[in-house]
Order: sequence, then structure tokens, then C-alpha cells
Amino acid sequence: MSNITFEKRVVISFRDKYPRLTTTYASHGMYYYPARFIPQVVRFFIDKYTKDQEWIIDPFAGSGTVGVEALITNRNAICLDLNPVIEPLLKAKTFLSDWYPNLSQYFNLKDAPIYKPKWSKIEEWYPLEFLEILEKMWGVYYENPHPLVLIALFKVSRRFSFADDQVPKIFRSKKKKAEIEEMLKKGNYKKMILDFFEKALREVYKASMEFKKYYKGGICIAKGGIDIINYELDRDINHLLTSPPYGMAHEYIRSFKLELAWLGYDDKQIRNLGKLEIPYCPEETIPKIDIQSDTYEKFYKRIEEKNPKLVKVYVKYFTSVLGVFDRLGKNVTDYMGIFVGNASFSGVSPPYDIIFVEHLENGGFEHIITYVDVIKSRKLFRNRKNASPNGIETECLVILKAKR
Ligand SMILES: C[S@@+](CC[C@H](N)C(=O)[O-])C[C@H]1O[C@@H](n2cnc3c(N)ncnc32)[C@H](O)[C@@H]1O
Repeated sequence: MSNITFEKRVVISFRDKYPRLTTTYASHGMYYYPARFIPQVVRFFIDKYTKDQEWIIDPFAGSGTVGVEALITNRNAICLDLNPVIEPLLKAKTFLSDWYPNLSQYFNLKDAPIYKPKWSKIEEWYPLEFLEILEKMWGVYYENPHPLVLIALFKVSRRFSFADDQVPKIFRSKKKKAEIEEMLKKGNYKKMILDFFEKALREVYKASMEFKKYYKGGICIAKGGIDIINYELDRDINHLLTSPPYGMAHEYIRSFKLELAWLGYDDKQIRNLGKLEIPYCPEETIPKIDIQSDTYEKFYKRIEEKNPKLVKVYVKYFTSVLGVFDRLGKNVTDYMGIFVGNASFSGVSPPYDIIFVEHLENGGFEHIITYVDVIKSRKLFRNRKNASPNGIETECLVILKAKR
């Protein structure tokens, strides 16, 4: 572990730096996403290390926090994520037009077209009574798609499913089953679903209007799905700012199966996406890179001693994430910001930030500083008493500068 790395650590509270910004301001809270960046971290990086109109790439963009903040501060962004949901999410979160959809069709579903998801498990996740209504609402949507309506439909399709609203991965809880049974007893489901849709749409419009108020300029490009796996930049880019997956903390594709199903993904497509997710991807899909970090080697031994099977996941995690930094980092001309927490592998928590720094220092970057933020209430997992799961106590923003 290099001493230099330790000397360059500074404790910070990103929330306190921007007391007027909330985690859901503008369109940030439009749709739930697990382990979302708090916008304050992104704003801090933008204010301190970037200039007007510069370009930022986020290769693990999730719900697109970097994209939204970029447009609020007149920067440009490329947001990539394996999860295809990034595209509709960012389209809605950065929607600027005054184009309003014709909503009357949603409220008169008698002769509505029917949209049937291809995912074979869809019926397991809904009572038939609700599914029939949702299939009509999505049928209407696909005749005349609108970015904001799509988000409201995502909300409705979660709410009236057996999936627990409070747990990121789709999970059938007893509580939600009881709630659905209660709803079924009440009858008049159509009105209940449409009322919820109206309310959801109102919230989505409100978030969109708020974004418009903050928007300053710039372009935001969003790309999701398996095509981004080997994405190469065809020109230089100023900065890379990202928050990679935290070890084994989440299964994102699994969490978004319902949304993916309504977007038209079939079983095979969903399975193939899941197979590329870090760190669950099979070994043959990971890039061939040589990790240049003594700390990585040291923790490899510790994890191997404790759990020889888990060491494979450890290798896959760091090889995949560092492979992305190497592939895109070669086009970064200025700063790289990496935000990560020390999630554990079977009780052993490798210092992710130090491993990233050591490897990248051997690959053309200079470590500038690491900001250490103490997690207070970041909702990594909703509905969990421990706000710091898997031993994550602090999160770090590592800043590196390209040596050019
Ligand atoms: C910590 S989250 C990023 C959250 C994001 N910063 C935000 O504000 O919403 C990590 C992301 O990595 C994505 N991911 C996992 N494996 C990936 C892969 N192989 N390639 C690209 N993205 C991947 C997940 O889908 C997830 O959205």
C-alpha cells in the first residue's frame, strides 16, 4: 500500500458542500435506482475539475446522474450502462420538449390494443386481473410512445406487481402479497390502476419541469445494453466520472426484469444481459488485463485463504472494472473521478480506491487526491435497517489526472 495514497486522503461531506441540493432535486428522483450517485458528488467533481462545455464519460451510468448534472452545468456527457433502462431513464430525466401525449386513450381502454411482454415469467408477477389492464395501457403506449409516460408506466407496472416496492431486486414479499390481495378484494381495479397512473404521471411531470428550470445546455448521449461492453471512444474526451458496481452488492439486471420485460426483452436477452454483469459474468467474458497493484495481490491472498471459491469473483470484479478504465482511460485528457465504497468479499474488504489508484498510476494517471465521505443515510438498500450494508462504512471519490 503506497504511503502517497494515504497522505492524499481528505475527509469530506459532499452533502454539506451543497446544502441546498437534495438527492432528488431536478429530475434525479424521477425513478428509483439502486446505489444511485448522490448528485452532490457529481456536482463537486464538475465544479472543481471541469469547465463549461467539456465532455464527461460515465461507463457505469446507472440511472444517469452524471448526464443530468452535466446538462444542469452546461457540460456534455456520454452515459453508458449494461442495463438498457439507462436509455429511457435519461430520455425522460432530460426531456425538454413541450410535447404532451394524448392521455384520453389511457382512460378508455375498451378497444385498446394489447401489448404482451415476451418474457415467459411475466404472469408469475401479476394477478391476471391487473395484467390484462397493464397490457392494454402498454398497448396504448406503444401506439404513441412518450418518454415521460413510459416512466409513469414503469411505476404502475411495479406497484401492481407482486414485486416488493421497497426491495431493489424483484422479490415476492409476504407484505406485498397481502397488499395485492387487499387491492383485489376492493374491486374496480381499473380505476385504482388509472388513479395511480395519473398520480405517477403528475410526479414525473413535476420532476421534468424542475429539470427544465435548472437546464443550462449541453448534450447527453445515453447508450445501454450489450453493445456497450466493448465501447471504444473514437476521439479524446476530457473526463471520466463514474461509480462502478460495489463488489457483489447488487444484481442490477435481476432488479430490472419487470421493466426490461415491458420494454420488450425476452428470456434469452435478459439472461444474456445478466451474464455480462460485473462481477457475476463468466470468466471468458472478462478482459485480459494484468492488474498492476500490490494491494490487489495482498487481498487476493487474504480472500483465497478465507474462501477459495470467492477469489474468482474478486478477480472477475477487479479485472472487469479496471478493464473498462483502461479501455476508456486512454482517451481521457484531463481528470478521472471514481466513486466507490468498500463492499466486502466474504467479510474481507479490499480497499477498492487504493487498488484503482495503484493500477491507474501504472497506466498513465497521477493520483491527485481521494475524498472520503462518511455514509450517513445513503440508501444503498431501502428497507434495511443497516444503512451501510456489506460493511460499507465510507465511500471515496478518487481523483486522478492524465499524465499527458
Ligand atoms: C453503482 S451503479 C451506478 C449508479 C449510477 N452512478 C447512478 O447514479 O445511477 C453501477 C452500475 O454498473 C452497471 N454495470 C454492471 N455491470 C456492468 C458492465 N459489465 N458494463 C457496464 N455497466 C455495468 C450496473 O447496471 C449499474 O447500473
